[in-house]
Amino acid sequence: MSQPWSRRFDSPLHPVIDGFNASIGFDLVLLPVDVRGSQAHARMLARQGIITAQEGEQLVQGLAQIQQEYQQGTFPAQGEDVHFAVERRLTELVGAVGKKLHTARSRNDQVATDLRLYLREAIDSVTEQLRQLQRVLWGVAADHVETLIPGYTHLQRAQPVSLAHHLLAYFEMFQRDKMRLGEIRQRVNVSPLGAGALAGTTFPIDREYTAELLGFQGVCANSLDAVSDRDFVVEFLTAASLILVHLSRMSEELILWSSQEFGFIQWQDSCATGSSMMPQKKNPDVPELVRGKTGRVFGHLQAMLVILKGLPLAYNKDLQEDKEIVFDTVKTLQDCLAAMTVVWQEGIVFQEQRLARAVGEDLSNATDVADYLATKGVPFREAYQITGQIVKFCVQSGRLLKDLTLIEWQEFHGDFGADIYQAITPEQGVARRNSLGGTGFDQVRLALARAQAQCG
Ligand code: ARG
Repeated sequence: MSQPWSRRFDSPLHPVIDGFNASIGFDLVLLPVDVRGSQAHARMLARQGIITAQEGEQLVQGLAQIQQEYQQGTFPAQGEDVHFAVERRLTELVGAVGKKLHTARSRNDQVATDLRLYLREAIDSVTEQLRQLQRVLWGVAADHVETLIPGYTHLQRAQPVSLAHHLLAYFEMFQRDKMRLGEIRQRVNVSPLGAGALAGTTFPIDREYTAELLGFQGVCANSLDAVSDRDFVVEFLTAASLILVHLSRMSEELILWSSQEFGFIQWQDSCATGSSMMPQKKNPDVPELVRGKTGRVFGHLQAMLVILKGLPLAYNKDLQEDKEIVFDTVKTLQDCLAAMTVVWQEGIVFQEQRLARAVGEDLSNATDVADYLATKGVPFREAYQITGQIVKFCVQSGRLLKDLTLIEWQEFHGDFGADIYQAITPEQGVARRNSLGGTGFDQVRLALARAQAQCG
């Protein structure tokens, strides 16, 4: 009989049920962490005298060989899941002692341990990728402190900003993402090993020892909770979703900016794609894919919440469904971060002339007119109303604020002087927004210095 469970069963599984039940098709990626968890467990069993020191050593060695086989691509993936496949191979390699490995352990605490180890690594690698993306963004920002770009609200031009300031907004989002992952990592990094199937074990195990060997910060306090808790998965999916929200918003801007309507960036050939029919096309497929993949990860978050919602304690097979969700989320996140990093490294070129025209040829300096009057002592609300009349005049006569004559200015208010022209240049408008966290060049340089420390 091929199935590993007890003699209670007389007949083998129906092949359809066998296939339905199995997770080996996707959970083999857990093998490296599964082996590490088993090695820690074997060491603990020996240290506690539950098996002999020699048996412990044989198990640890056999498991090391399995790790090698996996890396070389020769590991025979047979059985219901990765845990059975490893145990079976171990018994082939080291003989009957292999059958002692599962003493005082269940696949329920085993798989929870694996998943936490896997996610801990994934969190570290995603955090590093975020840092890498931040570094690249930082470099682009540092080159563009004095490049101006229209700032928008409601997708209507509002006030020009430093391009570096705009890019550093994303830097901040990724900084929070790293912090969030760091906080979640603490709750991931707790050991369920030793919870057994649900109730603990009769053997004199040492959970703190295995936790320490595996680099966990502590042990899950309640055995029922240890095997059925997947909060940490939901938390990770939430953090992943937010990272993708940020990447997706960034993607949307890149797509808009590269449209002919905006024309703020151009794509380098290495990062854009063509059309099979329209020879002139150059498409921003990368940000579109990132935007699309975001929906897929939101779906995973929703799926995980729904899977958990009605589960009674403790382990239920429903929980096997967490694997593909986690693996796909990690891969999607890593792929999106890698692609976006390349995009910012070499994929786009800012069209500086076009940007200069965009900030200089509209009425987005109207706030500066109101501020000018307010600085001269006119109450801001009044200054705002007067500027509204001036804007209306410009719109009706098809002119820009900078084109009004001094006489025209003074017809609207006697406090306008010749210095109004200087006050309403886009450069002045940006430079003078020097309040803490604003787009003023001095503020942006301070922000860049701070940011450098955060991604260094
Ligand atoms: N493949 C299973 C999973 O991913 C391992 C745990 C199975 N435990 C059990 N009692 N059936 O959840």
